[in-house]
Amino acid sequence: MKKILIGVLLTASFLSYSQGKSIDQKVEELLQKMTLEEKIGQLNQYTGDNTVTGPLTINPNKQQEIKEGKIGSMLNVIGAKYTRQYQELAMQSRLKIPLLFGLDVIHGHKTTFPIPLAEAASWDLSAMELSARVAATEAAASGIHWTFAPMVDVSRDPRWGRVMEGAGEDTYLGSRIAFARVKGFQGTKLGDLNSVMACAKHFVAYGAAVGGRDYNSVDMSDRMLWETYLPPFKASVDAGVATFMNSFNDLNGIPATANRYIQRDILKGKWNFQGFVVSDWGSIGEMIAHGYCKDSKEAAEKAILAGSDMDMESNAYRYNLAQLVAENKVPVSVIDEAVKRILRKKFELGLFDDPFRYCNTERQNKALNNPENAKIAREVAAKSIVLLKNEQKVLPLSKEIKTIAFIGPMVKPKRINHGFWAVDLKDVDSTYIVSQWEGLQNKIGKKAKLLYARGCGVEDMSKAGFEEAIQVANQADVVVVSIGERWNMSGEAKSRSNLSIPGVQEDLVKELQKTGKPIVVLINAGRPLIFNWTADNMPTILYTWWLGSEAGNAIADVLFGDYNPSGKLPMSFPREEGQIPIYYNHFNTGRPSINEDKVYKSAYIDLPNSPKFPFGYGLSYSYFTYSDLKLSKKKIKSNETIEVTLNITNTGSFAGEEVVQLYLRDQVGSVVRPIIELKDFQKIKLAKGETKTISFTIDNEKLSFYNSALEFASEPGSFDLMIGSSSADIRLSDTFELIP
Ligand code: GLC
Repeated sequence: MKKILIGVLLTASFLSYSQGKSIDQKVEELLQKMTLEEKIGQLNQYTGDNTVTGPLTINPNKQQEIKEGKIGSMLNVIGAKYTRQYQELAMQSRLKIPLLFGLDVIHGHKTTFPIPLAEAASWDLSAMELSARVAATEAAASGIHWTFAPMVDVSRDPRWGRVMEGAGEDTYLGSRIAFARVKGFQGTKLGDLNSVMACAKHFVAYGAAVGGRDYNSVDMSDRMLWETYLPPFKASVDAGVATFMNSFNDLNGIPATANRYIQRDILKGKWNFQGFVVSDWGSIGEMIAHGYCKDSKEAAEKAILAGSDMDMESNAYRYNLAQLVAENKVPVSVIDEAVKRILRKKFELGLFDDPFRYCNTERQNKALNNPENAKIAREVAAKSIVLLKNEQKVLPLSKEIKTIAFIGPMVKPKRINHGFWAVDLKDVDSTYIVSQWEGLQNKIGKKAKLLYARGCGVEDMSKAGFEEAIQVANQADVVVVSIGERWNMSGEAKSRSNLSIPGVQEDLVKELQKTGKPIVVLINAGRPLIFNWTADNMPTILYTWWLGSEAGNAIADVLFGDYNPSGKLPMSFPREEGQIPIYYNHFNTGRPSINEDKVYKSAYIDLPNSPKFPFGYGLSYSYFTYSDLKLSKKKIKSNETIEVTLNITNTGSFAGEEVVQLYLRDQVGSVVRPIIELKDFQKIKLAKGETKTISFTIDNEKLSFYNSALEFASEPGSFDLMIGSSSADIRLSDTFELIP
């Protein structure tokens, strides 16, 4: 009884003592009580052992070290039960500082959404924010405080497997999506029980790895860095992102983890970022392999001084920082600053008030089984599908069809649809994933007969299944063939030098084409693939990416026109790997490829420069005409704006959505300017026959760029304005002038 009374008095006194104090004051008070070892403990993060997302640092003493206050955060500990177990250990430490639990909730927690690149193809910012909101709600109910998302790396190289995780090649689109996703994950405010900390990653320029080879070096001008790769990170800061994760790559000779310029000068200095930076898995220790540090001690010194606050899985901080302080190589003030950034977030999350507030099994079970989430996932998945071809109007399929042959290695498997970076929930069975086969079954019920043949594998070269596939196809009114990459052929450490559809899958399509049946090709992938034969010879193609738990239902909705596809490609699709890096907003060069002269021009002698499918491209079952472009002014000063208006009419037979894209070209600049740049877009819904007037505002920001002095500014001169249905399908254009 006496102990309980003392406990109650202590708690009451702590609460009363801390009540009314700001978070900064609470952080300061707590810091004063901490030993150097306890401070270093807060900078140390380890993975749980259920799920591993990198080369594991064996440490059998994690649980004891948590009790000793030597670990401040865990990742890959999933579920209210398991996070509670670890948090209980932390409550046995001297100062009872709660653990942070982080996880890669990249495109959904249990309810899995389309991979981020697929969602980017929706160009629907509210859909992407909602997707992140649902993911946060499920994750927060499962004990997770922090997701290592959104990944906001711009990439112009589909050989890099992690393009699946981002928003594609365009800086403007990527910045808008970064903002939406951070808002989605973090919700109204941190500390709400359905919000998690977001993490802008991987800082920075990871997507520009030489050769598209993961973890490879990056070398570029600071101007390119500021103009193309930094803006989505700045958008994340503007959205209030709580954390950053730095990247594995060296940038201009210095590994990002120890790159003071990007972490202290830009992020914490110019951008005044108040959150904290976690290193990517082991990247501090990997600076030895980089040849940038001679040992773990030097790596720890360089990383902490450069602004890396938390060490994920490399042990460098916990084994070296105390010694570095003792040797006056690292001031304790630098450690204090990192610790304060981390403690501030733990207070904001309410973890000191109640360390177990996110570990509620009942709330978890309710959140993970909310049918509304599946409905949202189905809608977002349908919006992410891109219609590449529909030349013979085979789509949408008639609901009067009697027999459908559904063929290919992607038809029945469930896991394929989750793609890479799906959360590996050990205690949740995968039956909740709707396979493509089940999706069509759900749609047609008894109204039609659904025939199946696998036809071939994903990567094996056997054609033994072709005969059966052809027999099945010959019995059908229409054939749907589903091919593509295996679920982990794109993702981390999954760079490919050859982007063709693996195995004999295209050969299967060729054989099926000989049946003369109407054929719909579904291509499932985590990146742009190269499929020139199919693209040239098959009249009906849908790019169905990896669409998540509701893939089957979403594909069926699009096949039968219950959702009219509206997706637009967020990356250029190359004709051949030799074109890579390929991107739409390139410079003109002094000998542009359109040169009349057939010899001296910036082009290949064996291939057009143009992509197979361009950035911003995607068809609809409907058609949209653009008309009546009007500019409120033809000349403006930098403090003025132009109102751009135009009409869009749905001239097709279906209600549908169009992504109207606004592009600019700055004709002459103090540095060369891209031939075309996305500066705004609107996704609009139009009923059959409906016309809408939409408007855009051109302001000085849209005219500005980073000049050679790294000033973000506009320059007087002429601009081309282009309104398009894709970057290569400009429907209306005009010019205007910026005057001094
Ligand atoms: C991985 C990834 C990173 C992820 C982290 C934790 O190596 O690079 O994106 O968040 O480790 O899993």
